[in-house]
Amino acid sequence: MAKGNIIRFGPQDWEHARNEVIENFTPGTPINEAELFAGRQDTVRQLQDTVLEPGRHAIIFGERGVGKTSIANVFHRSLNTETRRLHVIRINADAADTFDSLWRKVFRRLKRGDDGTVVWADQTHPQPITPDDVQIEMTDFYPHETPIVIIDEFDRIVDNGCRVLFADAIKTLSDHTVNCTVIVVGVAESIVDLLREHASITRALVQVPMRRMTADEIRDIVGVRAKRLRMSVESEALWRLSFFAAGLPYYAHLMGKHAVLKAIEARSQIVRVSHVQEAMTAGLNEVDYSVRDAYARATRRAYRNENIYPQVLAAAALTEHDGVGRFGASDVAEPLSAIMGQTYKTPSFSFHVKEMCENDRGPVFRKWEFKKTYRFAFIEPLMKPYIIMKSLADGVVTEDIINHFTSKRQTELSIWMPQPSLQSANGAQAVRPGRARRRPSDLFQQQE
Ligand SMILES: Nc1ncnc2c1ncn2[C@@H]1O[C@H](COP(=O)(O)OP(=O)(O)OP(=O)(O)O)[C@@H](O)[C@H]1O
Ligand SMILES: [Mg+2]
Repeated sequence: MAKGNIIRFGPQDWEHARNEVIENFTPGTPINEAELFAGRQDTVRQLQDTVLEPGRHAIIFGERGVGKTSIANVFHRSLNTETRRLHVIRINADAADTFDSLWRKVFRRLKRGDDGTVVWADQTHPQPITPDDVQIEMTDFYPHETPIVIIDEFDRIVDNGCRVLFADAIKTLSDHTVNCTVIVVGVAESIVDLLREHASITRALVQVPMRRMTADEIRDIVGVRAKRLRMSVESEALWRLSFFAAGLPYYAHLMGKHAVLKAIEARSQIVRVSHVQEAMTAGLNEVDYSVRDAYARATRRAYRNENIYPQVLAAAALTEHDGVGRFGASDVAEPLSAIMGQTYKTPSFSFHVKEMCENDRGPVFRKWEFKKTYRFAFIEPLMKPYIIMKSLADGVVTEDIINHFTSKRQTELSIWMPQPSLQSANGAQAVRPGRARRRPSDLFQQQE
């Protein structure tokens, strides 16, 4: 029987749906199926154009976990035609790689010769591989075949000589208009971090910075999967999931998965806000161990004494950051005062912030000194959303305070609605922040 456009589950459908949730929500694995890949259509088009344009190559770079491998996996899927067959070779670089070992991984995946005498291309190179060998091998394809070589985790390479030779190889392939596209993928803020020797190849290399996903794209990740399961998600629940994900698809998968599982447990085909709330603990327990461990170390107690590290971290996560994600210790004062329910001035917590830049309690933050003042930023992108969810789940902050400092749904309308009063997590009447602000949430600001 149909209710709206949802087909009602029968008794046997619930277990089946549960299995499908696990298959479709994949916080640990990159996307491999174009249908499950949300948003980013401009970037997909940009990468496709790079493949089609002779002599062009691309570099995909951005924060950890933002979706680089996923786009590299799927962007080329629709490019195969009757007259063009893509030959995609995807390898991961590692810390021990040299130019030779890197291309050997590629050549090991290239068959040469007829059926009777098949060899792998790396067997034909007893000497160390050079940029010239790369050019020769990449030219050795049928005219209707286009090789795409994707080198992921490029940031892991430590050998500088490898990076220099790599730039040379790209230059050679481009100068000779070889019908082949090389795509470099890695965690980096800029192309310089990945390819130090980049000046000579700038024209041949299309730069593809991966931004965080928009709230709509994040909602799509959850919405599309729920629809596949013949379920739907209340708009308020979707909003919350996208808010907590802060543009990081990893959290959309993780929290989305647990929210849908909670709905299934309650035999509801509609995922509601209450399911998102109930999913919080299970979701948090499954967050990447390194993030949970970093939080535990940063906030641990000495001799069971109470401390304000959890509150300082929560305040730092709620602080308004500048365009490059940095904040000053004094910026933490306002959210911390709201959380504690009394005024906190910078000297009373700057020690805590600085300690979390050191090994003993972190490092959670990276620190920059400029004219004797310090600026800080979270090192790990997954940390900030985790702190906000964890602080809420543990009662370190209230929802009111989070709303106040991130301006809830009004974000999308760019209207900040001042709230009548703020109750701090410890029950005291919080210090009212001085100005009624009109600002988009800093969580979402980072994504744009
Ligand atoms: N466009 C997308 N639609 C749906 N899910 C996505 C999308 N992009 C990424 N994801 C999901 O987000 C998570 C991280 O994606 P991915 O592994 O591609 O990121 P990454 O940038 O390569 O990460 P890392 O820096 O750790 O290598 C995975 O769970 C993946 O399934
Ligand atoms: Mg990756």
